Amino acid sequence: MQQGPFRRQLPRNGPTRGASVPQEACDDDLKYRSRLGSRSVAADGHAHHMTPTDAALVVPTARLALVCLDLDLLTGSARGPGARAAIEARWGGPVGDAWFHDMDHFAIFRDRLAADPSTTWLMRGIRWRGAGDPEALVGHVGFHGAPGDHDLSAWTPVGVEMGWTVLPAWRGRGIATEAVAALVAWALEQGVSGVVAGIDPANLASQRVAERVGFHRVAAVDDDDEREDIWLYTGGVPAGEVLPHE
Ligand SMILES: CC(C)(COP(=O)(O)OP(=O)(O)OC[C@H]1O[C@@H](n2cnc3c(N)ncnc32)[C@H](O)[C@@H]1OP(=O)(O)O)[C@@H](O)C(=O)NCCC(=O)NCCS
Repeated sequence: MQQGPFRRQLPRNGPTRGASVPQEACDDDLKYRSRLGSRSVAADGHAHHMTPTDAALVVPTARLALVCLDLDLLTGSARGPGARAAIEARWGGPVGDAWFHDMDHFAIFRDRLAADPSTTWLMRGIRWRGAGDPEALVGHVGFHGAPGDHDLSAWTPVGVEMGWTVLPAWRGRGIATEAVAALVAWALEQGVSGVVAGIDPANLASQRVAERVGFHRVAAVDDDDEREDIWLYTGGVPAGEVLPHE
């Protein structure tokens, strides 16, 4: 099985094998549906006039910048290490060999961006702005698609699905937690009411990231006999607590 945020590639539009969708997640989504109608990037006329300086393309954090990967970067990344010099020139900082661990997934995101070139709801590179190795590309974080357009939409019908990866040399410094927290906050600012992530139950580091950001585990599903835990962030429910239904 492929380990990583985007290992599930086949569409799966709902909970399976008895997993139930929390009612409060659906209610929340309905509340935000009208807001999203006017604000989603896909439906928004501004999106077609975006330039690389647009705020939506770069989300800054204390030590990082989360930068939408453009078609050149995704195309080069999907090609592999042979494109490294071009990628470094385009990115403006060092790109280690480890970046090329997941070329198939870069190809998936290249195709999704090619189909919707103005979207900001796809993969972002994580740019290191802290001490040492300035501007290094240290991982990626992002969304599987625009609000409502993802495999786990049953849990958050107009929310988004997220994934994250930090390159091995950069792990254990809080980078994933910082990046995911900032991008969740950004998504909520755009009017999204929920963020969902599917995490392998054996992936303790990723679960810890989700927990620290404030996601809570809402279900376990089987996908082709592989178990995946569904983690949901709504902002309204403290981690670990389940709201009683009225
Ligand atoms: C998961 C991943 C993104 C974490 O990146 P990171 O930048 O090292 O994450 P952070 O430093 O922000 O936080 C990691 C947390 O997990 C904890 N952790 C790390 N390894 C762990 C392990 N084996 N068991 C339990 N906890 C672990 C860390 O102690 C830390 O928690 P803390 O802040 O309470 O100490 C990174 O390991 C990775 O890219 N893994 C491969 C790809 C992947 O699994 N992506 C997610 C798929 S859903």
